[in-house]
Formats: sequence, structure tokens, C-alpha cells
Amino acid sequence: MGNKVRVAIIGSGSIATFRHAPEYAINPNVEIVAFVDPVIARAEKLAGKYGAKALSHHSEALKLDIDAVSVCTPNALHAPISIDALNAGKHTLCEKPMATSNEEAHAMIAAASKAGKKLMIGHNQRLADLHVKAKELLEAGTIGKIVTFRTSFAHPGPESWSIEGATGWFFNQKLAFVGSMGDLGVHKADLLRFLLGEEIVEVASMVGHLHKPMGDVDDNAICLLRTATGKMGTLTASWTHYPGEDNATYLYGEKGQMRLGTDPRFSVIVHLANGEKQFYEVGKLQTNESQTSSGVIDAFVSSILNDTEPPVTGEEGRRSLAVILACLKSSDTKAFAQVEI
Ligand SMILES: NC(=O)c1ccc[n+]([C@@H]2O[C@H](COP(=O)([O-])OP(=O)(O)OC[C@H]3O[C@@H](n4cnc5c(N)ncnc54)[C@H](O)[C@@H]3O)[C@@H](O)[C@H]2O)c1
Repeated sequence: MGNKVRVAIIGSGSIATFRHAPEYAINPNVEIVAFVDPVIARAEKLAGKYGAKALSHHSEALKLDIDAVSVCTPNALHAPISIDALNAGKHTLCEKPMATSNEEAHAMIAAASKAGKKLMIGHNQRLADLHVKAKELLEAGTIGKIVTFRTSFAHPGPESWSIEGATGWFFNQKLAFVGSMGDLGVHKADLLRFLLGEEIVEVASMVGHLHKPMGDVDDNAICLLRTATGKMGTLTASWTHYPGEDNATYLYGEKGQMRLGTDPRFSVIVHLANGEKQFYEVGKLQTNESQTSSGVIDAFVSSILNDTEPPVTGEEGRRSLAVILACLKSSDTKAFAQVEI
């Protein structure tokens, strides 16, 4: 590797346009070498803007003199493309959900380990300032031991976000593998694992296609979760919250409660059992309408340059994926399901 980390971005749709490309571009230690997309006009548009090559297949990018890739493709392509990249000796930042099965996730982790390269998964929620602050307060014992929790990630659906709109891959089970549960639910599964500091071990869930006129994937998921030490809570993912977004988490502890992302100004609010209230103005979450730096790209680049473990490893991504796989199983079988940790 020369002075800079040389990167190819595979998939030139919305997440590449709004997060990966701009965040790599402002990182002084990075050079964006290529954009890949089978719809070559999409790759060309970004390549023109950032002074890079446009390619139509990821195998062409892997032949270039690059150090790393971002995988920003439809979900079902995450594992095969990431494994190709790792086998070609490239550090890999893969978007979420990392894979479509536990086996695929294990194969990605094994490929990274064999290649001796970094594998990071794009779970940005645990890097967001409000959640970092919440974790700090929890570790300081501010609300005592958590007893129950609820979290929700809901918006009107990806049709206004995806470069492919309402007829795109997000609604196609073959390419998406899962709908709201994988698009949004996996973010909150990862966040809960991070905040609670323990694994979710058992779930019960209803996952369904309730309202979207298009597609064959779920647009809503309502899940009950139990952690290894017995904490209980709910996770909701929805693509039918019209018009706005709900991106909130509530933690109920022995000594009080914490609300995250419920107030436009104070993104962390603590309300103690003794009546005391604490308000923290620590920045908002990135939303589809408001794209701020996610921290994901800087963390990935830093892990390459310093040869350190990225903050969301393949194993972390796999465990968060395992929660949603268990939810899908529970919904299918109409029974509690164990999470494959
Ligand atoms: N971390 C986050 O908060 C977040 C937010 C949005 C999307 N995502 C994830 O990012 C990924 C991409 O989502 P998006 O919103 O950019 O979708 P999008 O529909 O806007 O773009 C996807 C792009 O991938 C391209 N593509 C399809 N097959 C390809 C292939 N074989 N090689 C290269 N490119 C290919 C498509 O042509 C399209 O341009 C998804 O996995 C999604 O879950 C993550």
C-alpha cells in the first residue's frame, strides 16, 4: 500500500452516492479508484464526479491496484462479492445485512481470516454520537441495570431512497432476501446488542407483507426479544410509517429510563426514578433526508492504516444478522426461535 488506501466502490446506488463516496472523498488518506455497477451509467456518474474509473463488473475492479472495497450492492450479493474481494486480498467494508444466512456470514469471516484482511459491516447506528453517549451513561450505571427495552426503526419505505425506486431490488425477494426486517430491523438488532452488552438469545416474531402494493418481501416486523441474562423487549421494523421516520429506542432500568432519538434537540434524555431529568444534545442519527457523516468509512480506513480490528467486525455483523434470521424463523414456524450465536 502506498501513502493512500486505494478503494473501489462496488454498487453505485444511493448508499454509495450519499455516504461511501463522499465520506471516502473527504478522508485525506483515501483515493477512490473505481466505481462498479452493471448499470454503467450509475458508475460513470460517480466516476465523473470523483475522478475515478467506471466498471460494470466487480471482477474488473479486483484486478486493479486497490487495497479495499466497499460492497454497496443488493443484499443477496453481499456475501459472494465480499468473498471474491477478500479472496483477491482486498480489505472489505460490506453493507448490512451482511449476508442472507449464517453459513454465508461464516464463509465471509473465514475468507477474511484466510486472507488476513479486514472485514467490517456497515452498522452505523452503534457509531452515532447519541448511541455512543447512551453506552457511556449505561456503563456509568446512570439508570442501573436494564430490565426491559423497546426499539423501533420505521419509515415510509425504500422506494424514495433507492436509485431503482418502487420497482427496484429492495422489493424483490431474490435480491433483497428480506424486506423491512433486514433493511431496518438488523440495524436495531445490532444497536441493542451494542447497548445491552449481551446477546439476544430467543425471539418471537410476526413478519409480514401488509400494505406495500409492490414486491414479495415483508414491509413490517414486530418482534419480542429475550437476552442471555433475561432482559425482555421489543423491536419493530416498518416500511409503512407514512410520512415520517421513527428511529427511537427506550431503555428501562432499575433506577430510571433513557430515551434515544425521541426529541429533535435532545437526542438522549434520562429520566431517573427520583424525578431528576438529564438532557443531552449529542447530534442526530443519519436519516434518509438528513445525511451526516456516519463514521463508518473513517473507522474502516483507520482500521486498515493502523492494522486494528474494525469497530463492527464480521463476527459482530453475523451475530446481529442471526437475530433477524431467528425472527424470520419464528414468524414462519409460529413459535419461539433460538438465535444461532
Ligand atoms: N447502513 C445504512 O444505513 C444503509 C442505508 C441504505 C442502504 N444500505 C445498504 O446498502 C446496500 C445498497 O443499498 P442502496 O440503498 O444503495 O440501493 P440502491 O438501489 O440505491 O443501489 C444499489 C445499486 O447496486 C447495483 N448493483 C446491482 N447488482 C450489482 C452488482 N452485481 N455489482 C455491482 N453493483 C450492483 C444496482 O445497479 C444499484 O445501482 C443495501 O444492502 C442496503 O441494505 C445501508
